[in-house]
Amino acid sequence: MSPKTAQIRLMSSHPEVYEPCDDSFALVDALLADRTNILDHCPRLCLEVGCGSGYVIASLALMLGQELPGVYYFATDINPHALRVTRETLDAHAVDAELMCMDIASGLEKRLAGMVDVMVVNPPYVPTPDYEVGREGIASAWAGGENGRIVIDRILPVADRLLSDKGWLYMVTLTTNDPSQICLLMRKKGYASRIVVQRSTEEESLHIIKFWRDSDIQLDTKEILTTNKSVPARVKDSLISQFSQLSFCRGTNSNCL
Ligand SMILES: C[S@@+](CC[C@H](N)C(=O)[O-])C[C@H]1O[C@@H](n2cnc3c(N)ncnc32)[C@H](O)[C@@H]1O
Repeated sequence: MSPKTAQIRLMSSHPEVYEPCDDSFALVDALLADRTNILDHCPRLCLEVGCGSGYVIASLALMLGQELPGVYYFATDINPHALRVTRETLDAHAVDAELMCMDIASGLEKRLAGMVDVMVVNPPYVPTPDYEVGREGIASAWAGGENGRIVIDRILPVADRLLSDKGWLYMVTLTTNDPSQICLLMRKKGYASRIVVQRSTEEESLHIIKFWRDSDIQLDTKEILTTNKSVPARVKDSLISQFSQLSFCRGTNSNCL
């Protein structure tokens, strides 16, 4: 039997809440592609930042639910309408999560520091003027400021504080967000990364990137910090080539496992 995900016909909606779109589907596909690993990983606590309609958190709860009944789910959003819609979506699928209206995970950082085993984020990543970021209503769903990076760059240190030692972060990025530079930033915090799913259109390429703490990288990072060295050029080159090789496959859908 194939694993369940949330059903569009059971989704609740609101004019000011982001409807599940290609990026939401790509994120759920990445979780499905990595589902066996997630089950082996036995997460106890999963968190979605920016849950919108609830499609992703409901899908995660459904796809893990049968095998891992004791997992605790949290979801946050800055838009209060999104939390009401997510509650209805979860209820319609008979799954549960603790929902909180907040900026990223500001109200959870003390309570969940170092405890999150799986974190999922489809952030506002569309390049816009900076003043559009964080506006009330539906605009906050996509407005990402310069290079679409304003909210993403605020999420990365939060993820680092919330993730457990074995924690995994799955995040949606666009080519214009400079995903190789995001991977480099996370590498400096001791994280390895890989692309789980990549989707391309004529204009853009979406990558779903998975991050996890890696002990070798943590040792390198310590050395870099204590000796004031920079990240070796070969590491930077290999991160850049991951993304540039994939952008040659425009017009394709690929699961990069
Ligand atoms: C691209 S939508 C993704 C929605 C949903 N996760 C999905 O994949 O369909 C981004 C979501 O992040 C929320 N958001 C934007 N800025 C936020 C912030 N600073 N803190 C929490 N949520 C935020 C938006 O309200 C929106 O629901």
